[in-house]
Amino acid sequence: MSLVASPAWQALAAHADALRDRHLRQLFAEDGGRFERFSRHQGGLFLDFSKQRITARTLALLADLAAAADLDGWKARLAAGEAINHTEGRAVRHMALRAGAAAPPEVGAVLARLEAFCEAIHGGAWRGFSGECITDVVNIGIGGSDLGPRMAVKALAAWQQPDLAVHFVANVDGADLATTLAGLNPRTTLFIVASKTFTTLETMANAGTARNWLLAAAGETGAVARHFVAVSTNHAATGAFGIARENVFEFWDWVGGRFSLWSAIGLPIALAVGFRHFAQLLAGARDMDDHFLSAPAGDNLPLILALLGLWNTSFLGAASHAVLPYSQSLALLPAHLQQLEMESTGKQVDRAGQPAGTATCPIVWGEAGTNGQHSFYQLIHQGGRLVPCDFIALREADFPLPGHHPQLLANCLAQSAALAFGQTADEARAAGAAEPLVAYKVFPGNQPSTTLVLPRLTPFTLGQLVALYEHKVFCLGVLWQVNAFDQWGVELGKTLAGRLAPALNGESGGPGFDASTEGLLAILRSA
Ligand code: F6P
Repeated sequence: MSLVASPAWQALAAHADALRDRHLRQLFAEDGGRFERFSRHQGGLFLDFSKQRITARTLALLADLAAAADLDGWKARLAAGEAINHTEGRAVRHMALRAGAAAPPEVGAVLARLEAFCEAIHGGAWRGFSGECITDVVNIGIGGSDLGPRMAVKALAAWQQPDLAVHFVANVDGADLATTLAGLNPRTTLFIVASKTFTTLETMANAGTARNWLLAAAGETGAVARHFVAVSTNHAATGAFGIARENVFEFWDWVGGRFSLWSAIGLPIALAVGFRHFAQLLAGARDMDDHFLSAPAGDNLPLILALLGLWNTSFLGAASHAVLPYSQSLALLPAHLQQLEMESTGKQVDRAGQPAGTATCPIVWGEAGTNGQHSFYQLIHQGGRLVPCDFIALREADFPLPGHHPQLLANCLAQSAALAFGQTADEARAAGAAEPLVAYKVFPGNQPSTTLVLPRLTPFTLGQLVALYEHKVFCLGVLWQVNAFDQWGVELGKTLAGRLAPALNGESGGPGFDASTEGLLAILRSA
């Protein structure tokens, strides 16, 4: 049965109508224990969701909905490795990648190879064609083969290995590869070609050009084996590219791209921070897996985030969701979560192929605080749109320059308080606003937010954080009854681009295109 038609959903809809006009000021005034009631400690993390527009009854009704959706049954299916990605006939087993001693033997074998490879690079045993050590690594990949590792390498900058720089190239725009290669020496550069399918247009184009760049300096194709490794499930294609079998780190079709940073796709992370720290990242994710699979609904952090997301989107009507890490090191987290959340649940067809009947994934966006405050926060404060926010704060700084961290945290707290409680006209007057300006200085407030506090940003806590959002997405897939693990919506554009590329070169792209596309083709061809 469609969950949207269930009594649990209808009860929530009625409750949302009743609660819609209640302000967070009122909710806090009515309940002195609100902060304690709506916050949780877990595994060193602290989650405050008291500034969400909920009451105890909201949570109880949301828990009823999770039960009606058979969330526990779906968790069991996930944990058992069932093919819950039904449109691709695949299991969803990224938790097996970080299962430690309980990991399948093939996972352990690849991890051992990654460790040995990292040692060879860091220790200088691996040499380039000229006999020199590797000083720079370029990861060539896109989407899940780029965003997760790129985000994690930046997040763990405080853990960076000396004498090895890790770069990322994703865009087929030559500007990306050209500007990266401009500063590099082919004799000391190693390329990781990261692609699950090893067919992705952008990655193949960049890898081919990088190979030419290397060969122009090395002069002989044997150099490819010293300067290219691949991470892929497609051995035939990596072989055809010229990458030696022993330089291919495999993963499996049961790892979705956006969940793959824990696999060999995490090689750039392991190279950047050392394999030991990569193992701690996996341990942090495992800690969150254990929590997710065992904690009761009321204390289950990923489930709480998912239920709040569902509430804000499907019942309060939020169309977007801002992720605001008060950590420059986490600046790329919003980009990673955009793929994780929007590619997973940005769907309007349910598992049965029927219309979902509800708004699903909001537009996920964000920026590191405090930078966002000086650009788009104006809209969140006074633009009249409902924008639920996740604030992420670190109790201890990863780069503790004197005086900086208290200012960063003060801004984080100031923003979530201002968004929740706003400022009335009388308060503006009391704060000294001249009468003609009072209207401009009113802040409506009632903007919901959650604040997640990490003790420090470490490989372990980063693993917890990313896995927290992964499981949130799994729960939302169940609650919205969509398959969170396929991504058919990316295919049409790829097919059209495949026809348009020859058309741009003046060749036939098959049957004609629409008038706008034909017009643009003519303009672009004449360049
Ligand atoms: O086009 C979307 C996508 O398929 C993502 O799901 C994936 O992460 C990305 O492309 C890259 O795919 P691959 O690792 O196969 O190159």
